[in-house]
Amino acid sequence: MTPSHIAFIMDGNGRWAERRHMPRKYGHKMGTQTLENVVDLAAKFGIKTVTFYAFSTENWARPQSEIDYLFGIFRKFLSEIDRYKQKNVKLRFIGNLSRLPEDVRDACVEMTERTKENTGLNVVIALNYGSWEEVTSAVNRLLQSGKTSVSEEEIKNALYTHDLTFPDVVVRTGGEVRLSNFLLLQSAYAELIFTDTLWPDFDEKAFVGVLDEYSSRVRKYGGLKKGDAKA
Ligand code: FPP
Repeated sequence: MTPSHIAFIMDGNGRWAERRHMPRKYGHKMGTQTLENVVDLAAKFGIKTVTFYAFSTENWARPQSEIDYLFGIFRKFLSEIDRYKQKNVKLRFIGNLSRLPEDVRDACVEMTERTKENTGLNVVIALNYGSWEEVTSAVNRLLQSGKTSVSEEEIKNALYTHDLTFPDVVVRTGGEVRLSNFLLLQSAYAELIFTDTLWPDFDEKAFVGVLDEYSSRVRKYGGLKKGDAKA
């Protein structure tokens, strides 16, 4: 089975560069190229939605020069959106955009608007995203609307991902085995795949490896797998 939605934690840019005695920023630059390749691969393999964890609510703790460099990358990506528009990509952003520099926030809104009629791959960029922030702001919005108790459905509909499917698989490159505050609720039943491949090295072979690994998993959602003896 091909997953419908793959979410990526793009880890390992810094180490990739350091191993080449290059500044960490070079790793982020090469990681941006990987993101574009993965968008093309996702479209090629019939994936419907691909989400990328580009900047977390915790990434503000990085040196200001690295943050500035990353935002330079995001600005460039947003300015080149016509390339993605031609790929029939529908772009979306999740996260607390209100804390982003105004020009980046405006560009996110504009690019979402400009690609909204596209019918191809949904590309979701998590920018200033963190699950704890997402849930806290969702609950606060519900409280402000006058509610005194909330249902699972209402919380789900108040998340940044309200109009997206949940990821079938979350892939983390770079060898660390954790989710780092990424789509924690939405990944409740996602398959988790951790690979030592550093993000800039994540190529078609690695992508196919993920699809193969996903196909070998049996998803039960807390139930029994087909054919299991009933109690
Ligand atoms: C984690 O690697 C990576 C990030 C915090 C930034 C990810 C951003 C990109 C790949 C840029 C492309 C994004 C867009 C939206 C165009 P790390 O720096 O923590 O790596 P390390 O663990 O090796 O230090």
